[in-house]
Amino acid sequence: MSGTRTILITGGAGFIGSHVVRRFVTKYPQHRIINLDALTYAGNLENLRDVEHAPNYTFVKADIRDAEALKKIFAEHRPDGVIHLAAESHVDRSISDPMAFVTTNVIGTVTLLNAAREAWSGAFAGKRFYHVSTDEVYGSLHDGGFFTEETAYDPQSPYSASKAASDHFVRAYGNTYRLPFVLSNCSNNYGSHHFPEKLIPLMINNIRLRKPLPVYGKGENVRDWLWVEDHAAAIDVIFHQGADGGTYNIGGHNEWRNIDLVHLLCRIMDRKLGRSEGESAQLITYVTDRAGHDLRYAIDASKIERELGWRPSITFEEGLERTVDWYLANQAWLDHVTSGAYQQYYAAHYKAQ
Ligand code: NAD
Ligand code: DAU
Repeated sequence: MSGTRTILITGGAGFIGSHVVRRFVTKYPQHRIINLDALTYAGNLENLRDVEHAPNYTFVKADIRDAEALKKIFAEHRPDGVIHLAAESHVDRSISDPMAFVTTNVIGTVTLLNAAREAWSGAFAGKRFYHVSTDEVYGSLHDGGFFTEETAYDPQSPYSASKAASDHFVRAYGNTYRLPFVLSNCSNNYGSHHFPEKLIPLMINNIRLRKPLPVYGKGENVRDWLWVEDHAAAIDVIFHQGADGGTYNIGGHNEWRNIDLVHLLCRIMDRKLGRSEGESAQLITYVTDRAGHDLRYAIDASKIERELGWRPSITFEEGLERTVDWYLANQAWLDHVTSGAYQQYYAAHYKAQ
């Protein structure tokens, strides 16, 4: 894919998307990067202040469910590559409002596939549609083992069901219309600019404010955490060097029980905030479990390591230190994204706890 010159990145104002946009804009000045985002509650152009004036960067506000808008954008910008990250991404919200996940993650993805297919109209040489997906499509691990690229899909939440459906549509367009695609399934990301509805930034925000730290159930669920910039690096290498029609699992070899992770964050923040050891851990509060809560995710990332030479670049300890440092240095960002609608979301979601 070395010939690609114009790349449409969807969801570029979100957490992972903003890291992908930043990486592509700065690393590939010869490429034009079009960031298409609807700016939902999760989209924030503040995430991209450092690159917004770059000559090879353009932002377009649009909804991936809007076929007419997509048609115009493809006609105007003529992308030869698409990196599709736009999605509703929070499992808890998918439990309270599954339809939003069906319309954006399923119908939005199919609408985007149609736009690419029509714009490229069979002239597929040098074109690539990259669909960014999640390890949650594989379901929940109970008896050890890892998700490989061959693991059968078994989604358990409305979010993962909608992502699984979108993955199936991407592969179906590849098979039926020969649309050139590549797909990846990644484990839990963490890092800067992460919306504080998700575990790590929520805990960091609550620790700094001395608010209760809501741990679902017994805190025994296990996630495999990857630094977001390592995910962006994996997306870069897959976009440029991944096999046509290929699937790549991406993970951090880094499994943590939620309760152990929260204790680690408390220790790091006690040290950085000059609090006495054990002070923040006293805020830990066990709350009602998430409905249908997946027990464990763990990725076997040996294919991408073997075939494309990608590996996580930093340890979890280092990544968490950097992450906490970023949030403490950017408390205005946290204050901004947690004002307004976030307060209502938080009150409604955690009030039953
Ligand atoms: P996010 O919620 O932080 O960002 C999603 C972005 O998509 C936002 O900028 C939002 O405005 C935009 N968006 C939402 N609906 C849209 C629509 N209808 N039209 C256009 N834009 C819309 O999500 P994230 O955590 O950065 O995840 C990005 C992608 O990566 C998602 O597809 C997600 O499934 C996948 N993923 C996430 C993780 C993770 O740990 N966060 C792990 C693996 C895969
Ligand atoms: O595995 C990849 C997925 O990781 C992505 O596809 C999703 O978009 C992303 O949101 C993430 O899903 P999780 O459900 O694993 O992430 P979340 O941060 O919501 O929760 C992580 C774990 O922490 C999970 O076991 C639930 C628990 N949790 C979460 C919150 C928000 C708590 O115990 N308390 C909380 O308040």
